[in-house]
Amino acid sequence: GRKIILDVDTGTDDAVAIMFAALHPELDLLGITTVNGNVALANTTDNTLRVLDWIGRPDIPVHPGVPHPIARFGFPGGKHFEQDDDNDPHGTALPIPEPSTAAQATGAIEYLVETLRATTEPITLVAVGPLSNIATALAVDPSVAGAVDELVVMGGGHAVSNVSASAEFNIWADPEAASVVFSAGFTRRTLVTLDATHRALIPQRTCDALDALGTPAGTAAARFITRRIGAYEHTTVGAAPVHDVVCTAYLVAPEVISTRHLPVAVETASPLTVGRTVIDTRPDTELEPNAHVALDANADLLNELLLSTFARDVTS
Ligand code: BDR
Ligand code: CA
Repeated sequence: GRKIILDVDTGTDDAVAIMFAALHPELDLLGITTVNGNVALANTTDNTLRVLDWIGRPDIPVHPGVPHPIARFGFPGGKHFEQDDDNDPHGTALPIPEPSTAAQATGAIEYLVETLRATTEPITLVAVGPLSNIATALAVDPSVAGAVDELVVMGGGHAVSNVSASAEFNIWADPEAASVVFSAGFTRRTLVTLDATHRALIPQRTCDALDALGTPAGTAAARFITRRIGAYEHTTVGAAPVHDVVCTAYLVAPEVISTRHLPVAVETASPLTVGRTVIDTRPDTELEPNAHVALDANADLLNELLLSTFARDVTS
């Protein structure tokens, strides 16, 4: 199958993306790198190990990355709306058993650089958290971008934001890293924005169907997404976006999103708009397009893909 590396800040939607990538027969998940984001690095790493154990894929290596943004001592000012108690869709530890496996001794940056240097086949890099690890690996060796056939990023937004009036969490959490990644020499860059993920909502009835599958992935996905639906009760009643899994679903069903080749740049200076992806949709823009930007998605197809993929149980 298609060789991929996932970079995650496991929270509930990262967890669904991990299960999808680890279980879908067309994907070969080589390894996972973890980063600080939704929760601290120790927790994103522990949560990732929990998910892999739970679905019977403890063979997939987990490499912890950087514990903070690359050019700041912390996130920009302001609170990530999802870190609020009453509408936090993540929590700290995922509601599945603690892992019986440990993370690798080799860190994420070394793993990314060495794996991309050594590979004889193209690898697809899927980043669904802040881009601190990716930017750091590029700082060590910019040429590693050449081994990546496609970089798929969950992040940014055009008409939709979440962490502030104008920014999306993954980009906002490490804006300098995002700016580096959007100007690096990747052959193909796909950006799945909030505009897309908010058009691919998962309703409670799908959670019920996932639970009825009776598989580890179905049960866990139902649990994680039900929590998200509760957290999103003020925005998308009775359903929730599961942002990160749109990226892994796209790898096996590109028609789950529709993209436009557009110029994208990241604001890193302005206190008001720091972390904003400035996406230029002007037909006569003078700027060069640098990303295939998804601003729309197919909800029915995404729901179908979750149900078909999570019917698989590899624990027996
Ligand atoms: C992104 O932020 C996190 O909360 C999710 O895991 C997703 O990657 C959405 O803005
Ligand atoms: Ca994430």
